[in-house]
Amino acid sequence: MNVQAHETLEPGEARCPGPSTRDLILRDGWNVPPELVTESYEFLGDEDIPYERYTSRALFAREMEKLWPKVWQWACREEHVPEVGDYHVYDVGNHSILVIRVAEDEIKAYYNSCLHRGTQLRPSDSTGSVTQLRCPFHGWTWNLDGSLREIPCRWDFPKVTDEAFSLPEVKVARWGGFVFINMDPDAMPLEEYLEVLPAHFANWPLDRRYTAVHVQKILPANWKAAQEAFAEAYHVLETHSQALYTASDANAQYDVFGERTSRFIHTVGIPSPHLTEPVSQEEILKRMRGGQGDMDIPLGGTARAVVADHLRQALGEAYKIDLSAWSPSELMDSIQYHLFPNTYMHSGITLPLIYRFRPNGMDTESAIFDILVLRPIPEGEAAPEPPEPVKLGVDDSYLTVRGLDPGLAQVYDQDTKNLGMQQRAFHNRGKRGETLGNYQEIRIRRMHKTLDTYLRA
Ligand code: FES
Ligand SMILES: [Fe+2]
Repeated sequence: MNVQAHETLEPGEARCPGPSTRDLILRDGWNVPPELVTESYEFLGDEDIPYERYTSRALFAREMEKLWPKVWQWACREEHVPEVGDYHVYDVGNHSILVIRVAEDEIKAYYNSCLHRGTQLRPSDSTGSVTQLRCPFHGWTWNLDGSLREIPCRWDFPKVTDEAFSLPEVKVARWGGFVFINMDPDAMPLEEYLEVLPAHFANWPLDRRYTAVHVQKILPANWKAAQEAFAEAYHVLETHSQALYTASDANAQYDVFGERTSRFIHTVGIPSPHLTEPVSQEEILKRMRGGQGDMDIPLGGTARAVVADHLRQALGEAYKIDLSAWSPSELMDSIQYHLFPNTYMHSGITLPLIYRFRPNGMDTESAIFDILVLRPIPEGEAAPEPPEPVKLGVDDSYLTVRGLDPGLAQVYDQDTKNLGMQQRAFHNRGKRGETLGNYQEIRIRRMHKTLDTYLRA
């Protein structure tokens, strides 16, 4: 229990009264990876975050110049470019990068721009397969490995040498089945950039997953505000109150592991501390099962344990993998890591979600939100081909997406509605910044602090 007198605590030390997330996970009685019950919090100050950060075109332009060309960011999954010649164009703001498999085990990335008069070699946001890279304007052509192949009327370009006119490369590295790019030739190695992620995800290998669903929606807010709507469980009480009986919120755990990685864990199958009346295990079970009364709880058992046992069996069979060592927390809880600047990765298996937030072109006030549902690749089978992304406009509901859980779709629709109202109000006169919770909103503050180090560099 971590009930403490509020007045005696330093800022950032207060926690929701009652059992902590760690207590709840240990109460399950399973052996869990030590990383799961590690806590890592640091108070980072309590100054307001100016709304200007979400509206200023000048700041947006600085991000384009000083942030995006300097950070590791995932462009696609490896399964998006499985064969030699397969390419994927990754756009972020006004940057366009062409990722292409050039050999069985080699993926390269080039600036998506012709060395003649700049035209994009392949259209923005496109995927496909080629045997060479031929500019659609005048036909300058490169081999897949970036070497110059052909220039029509080469007699007119005496200054062009093969050596100087190879396609300039962008750094590429791979981890967890993701293809990362970095435009900075002096960037630190990806392995170092990822901080705790390789160690923590050793238990939950994302390279053994495939993309089952991909949704890409335009959100009505700056990319940072859009991302921050998914950084905390504080808003569950007001925004997603349907979840109060089956998910913890105020007692969620927040960790900051370094400048670029953070985490939250909120437990499933345990009611919110906001509920003042006790909730029976039968009631929790019924809600977790979507109203079906199809399972029983043994004497002294919990709904959480019953559902976890069921999932361990059912998902193990469906995915043909051994889940016998997976604890209830690893199976069901929302265990979500953030990688600066723009990605969340959930380690779990019932919520196997990846989120990515990018500026929508050069619009300061909207963002592209990619959701990938990554399911385990059945043992001994090849990964199925990734689906084309389902594209949703600002007003399109997630409920229209086939394959997306309707409960989750409802949650995303609720978040989208908030974002439009928040971004609009950033322009109001009156109070000019957001006041963050020291604990529950620490990941937002961490993100802004790291962003500042890039903007100041
Ligand atoms: S701009 Fe590419 S060939 Fe001319
Ligand atoms: Fe939400």
